[in-house]
Amino acid sequence: MKIAILAGDGIGPEIVAQAVRVLQALRSDGLKFELEPGLLGGCAVEAAGEPFPEVTRKLVADADAVLLGAVGGPQYDALPRRQRPEQGLLSIRRMLNLFANLRPAILHPELANASTLKPEVVAGLDILIVRELTGDIYFGEPRGIERRDGQRVGYNTMIYSEAEIRRIAHVAFQAARKRNRRLCSVDKMNVLECTQLWRDVVTETAKEYPDVELSHMLVDNAAMQLVRNPRQFDVVVTGNMFGDILSDEASMLTGSIGMLPSASLDDRSKGLYEPIHGSAPDIAGKDVANPLATILSAAMMLRYTFDEEAAAVRIESAVKKVLAGGYRTRDIYEPGTKKVGTAAMGDAVLANI
Ligand code: NAI
Ligand code: MG
Repeated sequence: MKIAILAGDGIGPEIVAQAVRVLQALRSDGLKFELEPGLLGGCAVEAAGEPFPEVTRKLVADADAVLLGAVGGPQYDALPRRQRPEQGLLSIRRMLNLFANLRPAILHPELANASTLKPEVVAGLDILIVRELTGDIYFGEPRGIERRDGQRVGYNTMIYSEAEIRRIAHVAFQAARKRNRRLCSVDKMNVLECTQLWRDVVTETAKEYPDVELSHMLVDNAAMQLVRNPRQFDVVVTGNMFGDILSDEASMLTGSIGMLPSASLDDRSKGLYEPIHGSAPDIAGKDVANPLATILSAAMMLRYTFDEEAAAVRIESAVKKVLAGGYRTRDIYEPGTKKVGTAAMGDAVLANI
């Protein structure tokens, strides 16, 4: 197993270092992987003049999986668009055709008070949002802003082919199979033809998964249900734009952005794994960032790319024990718990591996 380690900018190097320690601990335990560091984002612009240099491209092409910290920061805001750090990340998504974005939103019981919703509403929350990542209105053509009849008009195209819908539906049904065999597909078929096709194709695909219970929900209702009664959801599948919005909404139910991992996959299980947060320049270099989202992203990598379920569960169990043991970085700290820094949180996870 070859893993490209792209720590990136800001808190990236601090949090990725902890995930690497966890992977190394598993390696000494029999799992064999090579960890190959590379530059992406602002640090790559500084070293090589571009956010996704050729050496990193080759590293990513040769790797089975990519573990990413985060890219970006205010010091890069003045760069021309093609040199901006995010272009590095977008280039990898495009290059690897990472069409399936998996974002679990899990509330750890110890953090029930960190959620903005009442503890009794979110207790036990465990949702997986499967978002299509390379199609939809974000990529559809034609698009633009132009003058028509003496005024400006802006337009985009919402478009999905049935092949694009079918492949993300398969990812979602297979994920549901590994969980509680319930899948909710979210669309806006009452208004948008594109999502009528979405509903039709997901329904057709369901015939191959008779063991999974499929339901459909309109996106406006889904947004409302996520805050009214989020525990009704198990796996949710939706398009790029609705998934962008609903996954941010769902992630906030769980408290801290520093807790949430993600996976972006192609159809051969090559994947990119990263915390959902950014480079947090406000806390970079201070040993206060929460490394758990990145450590949990490494667990997702073991599960989805390498099919090492037992190793993934070992990491996730270690994180649960650390939380139960009262260890908290600043973002999840409450009186009565033990406040630790980034590296000490890594130590605590390692001690439980
Ligand atoms: P951010 O996610 O970096 O930070 C938002 C807030 O959450 C900050 O107060 C930060 O301190 C806190 N935070 C984030 N991660 C944390 C962690 N692990 N532990 C504790 N606290 C944490 O979002 P922001 O500030 O909007 O963006 C900062 C930079 O990151 C920008 O340059 C942005 O473009 C970039 N970014 C990169 C992403 C990526 O690489 N995938 C995603 C989102 C933003
Ligand atoms: Mg977003």
